[in-house]
Amino acid sequence: MGTMWRSLSKYICIFFLLALSGLFFLFSNINILEKLKCQAVSMFYQHQSSIHSVFLPEGPSPLDRNQSYCSQESSPEEALEERDLLESIAWPQPQPHSVNVSLKKTSDPAHSLFVILPAEGRREWHVGDQLEALVHMYDFQGRPKSYGGDFLLARLHSSNLGAGVAGQVLDHRNGTYSAIFPLLWQGSAQVEMTLVHPSEAVHVLRRIREERPDRIPFQSLFRSGKLSQTTVCNLCLPTNQKPLCNYTDPHTGEPWYCYKPKLLSCDTRINHARGPYVNHLLVNKEALLFQSGVNIKVPIHPSGSDSVIVLPEKKDKADVERSSMKTESTRITPSGYYFQGSWRALGGGVMRQFNASSATQCLKGKVVYMYGDSTVRQWFEYLNTLVPDLKEFNLYSPKNVGPFMAVDSTHNILLKYRCHGPPIRFNTVIASEMRYVANELDGLTGGSKTVVFISIWSHFSTFPVQVYIRRLRHIRRAVVRLLDRASGTLVVMRSANLQALDPKVSLYNSDWFSVQLDGVLRAMFRGLDVLLIDAWEMTLAHHLPHSLHPPPIIIKNMIDMILSHVCPE
Ligand SMILES: *[C@@H]1O[C@H](CO)[C@@H](O)[C@H](O)[C@H]1NC(C)=O
Ligand SMILES: *[C@@H]1O[C@H](CO)[C@@H](O)[C@H](O)[C@H]1NC(C)=O
Ligand SMILES: *[C@@H]1O[C@H](CO)[C@@H](O)[C@H](O)[C@H]1NC(C)=O
Ligand SMILES: *[C@@H]1O[C@H](CO)[C@@H](O)[C@H](O)[C@H]1NC(C)=O
Ligand SMILES: *[C@@H]1O[C@H](CO)[C@@H](O)[C@H](O)[C@H]1NC(C)=O
Repeated sequence: MGTMWRSLSKYICIFFLLALSGLFFLFSNINILEKLKCQAVSMFYQHQSSIHSVFLPEGPSPLDRNQSYCSQESSPEEALEERDLLESIAWPQPQPHSVNVSLKKTSDPAHSLFVILPAEGRREWHVGDQLEALVHMYDFQGRPKSYGGDFLLARLHSSNLGAGVAGQVLDHRNGTYSAIFPLLWQGSAQVEMTLVHPSEAVHVLRRIREERPDRIPFQSLFRSGKLSQTTVCNLCLPTNQKPLCNYTDPHTGEPWYCYKPKLLSCDTRINHARGPYVNHLLVNKEALLFQSGVNIKVPIHPSGSDSVIVLPEKKDKADVERSSMKTESTRITPSGYYFQGSWRALGGGVMRQFNASSATQCLKGKVVYMYGDSTVRQWFEYLNTLVPDLKEFNLYSPKNVGPFMAVDSTHNILLKYRCHGPPIRFNTVIASEMRYVANELDGLTGGSKTVVFISIWSHFSTFPVQVYIRRLRHIRRAVVRLLDRASGTLVVMRSANLQALDPKVSLYNSDWFSVQLDGVLRAMFRGLDVLLIDAWEMTLAHHLPHSLHPPPIIIKNMIDMILSHVCPE
């Protein structure tokens, strides 16, 4: 009995010791438990953020331009300039009877036609004259259109001469259009007319430009420690829904916002990326207005001949005066034309052709800064290939995004490329590389050894034009400051170019959005000491198909033009 109790008490003792050590273990490891709990929480958030990204974007976040944070306060001069700019690119407004028309009442390129004037009767054409073609638009039922607003492209070319020039289209607002071409070469010249979009489709594009600036959404990843979340970002976000992170640029005042992540601060933004494109932008039967082969970039056929034979320039003074007086009001001046496959700038110096050695000689001692979208990155890539001793320096940047740098230390040539600030549709830009062109320009010393290339247009096509005007205004100010402090600096601006369009691309990137932005760019940089590379005309005049990234032969012509300017003969 006594021994039994003794052994029992021994067991109780062991039990208590075990229990105590268990408790001790529990308390000493409570930290670990806390950590485990945190991990579970952060995994939950990671899970949530991945779910979140799947459901991006979170419904429409229309740019409400009445909210002052979307637009900066503008001075009276700026407001006046904006009004003039918008007026200069005004497109005919829809007629009451042209809204909601059925497809059969819309412009049909297959039924439409053009005639070279004079329609009957013969005429002699000479270099230096202008050629006019009259376009008659008809609907799908073969009835003449009675209002304007169709988006047409006109080109005059000769395939055996490797020649081409952009024509100018005048909208008579009654269903007829004049296409006017300068006659710049001797020999055959053929007219090519294209309907890019019927006016009814342009109304749709205008509507989604104003109402759906969220149709290409943006997003940023926020991360700190184990927590991470992805949220939606844009130029403007509604202020009344969720807390925002305000990334408005302190120097330029360019707005940029993201929804604030729930458990992270706004300082934890890691990157920026384009979200998935928003679909279902069209209502009712609007999709019928955007059909490949039917009413997107479809040729309009001639009635009668589509070509003329151009004779040598007439030396007779009276004749020249007479012909220029007659067409004085519509005298058109293209920025250049192709002949034998090479671009000849009008009103500029002589175009040179650059090969590896002459390009190296021309760029010797120069630093070339390139800012903008992928269309200026093409120039970086082209020069990097052309100049044999240029070696790309590995900055470990993401492919196609940059920043990129190439060095030729033998000839002291440096090329740098950096993308423009938001809105930028690249995937994925590190937050620290999100820089505005204007701020980068302010950081340059400049001088005769400095060349600056700027191309910024494509990523603005989903926003109202005012957004682009504001951006160009900041860039223009920075260009003026740069030219003031270092007058030898060469600044080259690249205009927008035409691109391949299908029903989907049209809604985000249509040439109609580009032509509107391009009009603004030209007007805003007119009179400034910058070289404009007219990518619009260089892609319109060329025979190769339109492409967002123009083919190498067009890039070569652009670079030849720039280098001819840097190193005139
Ligand atoms: C925005 O302002 C314009 C005039 O400034 C007004 O016509 C319009 O109704 C306003 N829109 C909203 C949503 O408040
Ligand atoms: C356009 O037509 C659709 C249906 O055909 C109709 O629901 C809509 O209200 C019309 N819109 C206008 C502005 O007339
Ligand atoms: C359209 O307008 C032009 C220019 O005003 C005019 O010359 C032409 O006769 C008009 N055509 C029709 C069909 O009304
Ligand atoms: C964001 O910051 C800018 C500059 O600090 C300020 O002007 C703007 O009002 C802010 N936006 C919002 C919505 O608070
Ligand atoms: C490059 O062009 C220059 C003239 O611009 C010419 O003298 C030279 O021979 C050319 N070099 C080559 C390799 O074609």
